[in-house]
Amino acid sequence: MTTLVIGGAGYIGAHVVRLLLARGDAVVIIDDLSTGAASRIGAATAVDLDIAAPDAAGELETLMREHRVDAVINLAAKKRVGESVERPTWYVQQNVGGMVNVLTAMENVGVQKLVFSSSAAVYGVPEVSRVDENVAPEPINPYGRTKLVGEWMVEDAARAWGLRGASLRYFNVAGAGWPDLGDPAALNLITMVFERMDRGEQPVIFGDDYATPDGTCIRDYVHVLDLAEAHLAALDYLDLDDRPHAVFNVGTGVGASVREVIDAIGRASGAHLSPEVVARRAGDPPQLIADVARIRETLDWRSQHDLHEMIASAWRAHRVNATV
Ligand code: UFG
Repeated sequence: MTTLVIGGAGYIGAHVVRLLLARGDAVVIIDDLSTGAASRIGAATAVDLDIAAPDAAGELETLMREHRVDAVINLAAKKRVGESVERPTWYVQQNVGGMVNVLTAMENVGVQKLVFSSSAAVYGVPEVSRVDENVAPEPINPYGRTKLVGEWMVEDAARAWGLRGASLRYFNVAGAGWPDLGDPAALNLITMVFERMDRGEQPVIFGDDYATPDGTCIRDYVHVLDLAEAHLAALDYLDLDDRPHAVFNVGTGVGASVREVIDAIGRASGAHLSPEVVARRAGDPPQLIADVARIRETLDWRSQHDLHEMIASAWRAHRVNATV
């Protein structure tokens, strides 16, 4: 029996694949390499396929039969919030369309276990500062909406034909489990600060007048290796009989402010950083921290790595990539 990891050449997917292989699971990867990298695939079998392409469901079906796939982890999606605002229909086509093909193939072949990559973006700007999974999702951008629709599709398929699904709502993912698996894209605070440092520029802080202790926004940063472990725990949970669709926050339950993150980057890199405060960025909630009781109680999963380890590992990976 084989686990199909869609998006397995991406930053998070490659960590999931490495952990699955390490525990002896059979793995096959699908990735269109639009943002993933062939160098991250390692020894696993990989197929180059765009799951949002019109004929992808048929190809997925063939592949699932050929490799006797019994579980799918779907991490493949577009994830740039700004881009989703500019190209909302394309985001639906990519993220929701991809899920249509994956679920169609799974239903036709009879593959019953799915771990779906969702996001804390489904919460939008919640009233509460610590969100549990019962807080009503109200995404404020097309990216977040596509993730919420994906969760609904899993839930409806679970009701209709017995799919067993787990949707993981990732909070702020950072770090590297191995130096060759760092996040290559400068789309988040930590990697954006690295990019500015590379250019000899100081970090920028998008607003320091929020109602938080130091005035900067607070987020729940979770180590990518811990997040990858959560996928394995979710997969094992789906092995148990009669599991319905379940949604889990994946975070640490602990917040860090933008200033604290930048200070930690200064310590890990040895650089003297004096960030420049600029205007607030539209749509940033002041504080977003996961309530992690459900994942702890149901999957017996908890984060193992703190912010310092996240940043130190991200910095090491960044240095490795900078010198290759
Ligand atoms: N920030 C700065 N300076 C920077 C970059 C970011 O001050 O150079 C701030 C942001 O304003 C925010 C915090 O750092 O307050 C974190 O920003 P990120 O862009 O790293 O992360 P977000 O919390 O905005 O976004 C993350 C994921 C998204 C997801 C979103 C909602 O990256 O994919 O959470 O859960 F949609």
